[in-house]
Amino acid sequence: MNNIIIINGPNLNLLGRREESQYGSITYKELKNKCLDKAKELGANLTIFQSNIEGEIVGTIQESIDKYDGIIINAAAFTHTSVAIRDALNIFKKPIIELHISNIYKREDFRKKSLISDISTGGIFGLGDNGYILAIISMQKLINNEN
Ligand code: DQA
Repeated sequence: MNNIIIINGPNLNLLGRREESQYGSITYKELKNKCLDKAKELGANLTIFQSNIEGEIVGTIQESIDKYDGIIINAAAFTHTSVAIRDALNIFKKPIIELHISNIYKREDFRKKSLISDISTGGIFGLGDNGYILAIISMQKLINNEN
């Protein structure tokens, strides 16, 4: 069974209460359940982690090196600022999918720069919470070398 982790950054725990036009109305709990159901259906072992603290995300990425076959990361605001998260991801030599619920290229200029795109295997943005489901499906394929 493939071991996959989804890492969510700051404020994603408040989904459902954030700008609906960008993030939709799904709550974080509903999103988690949706992802866990999909992973179960695909036979993957999925862990979901969220933190508002940069260092905790770095620590989780470090711990993931020996524990997980793939990382799906929505680093949220840290996407645009965190060299530390980028450096930690760069040590993880397995598939990484960068994910954003909104289309970061259609928003403010400061969101158009991602520090993790060029070290990720691939990315999904602007497809709403369905992006998470697509990321889980794609990650399974990447790990199984079916892509
Ligand atoms: C986000 C986009 C980021 O710019 C923002 O800071 C977030 C969420 C997204 O999923 O669309 O918090 O990563």
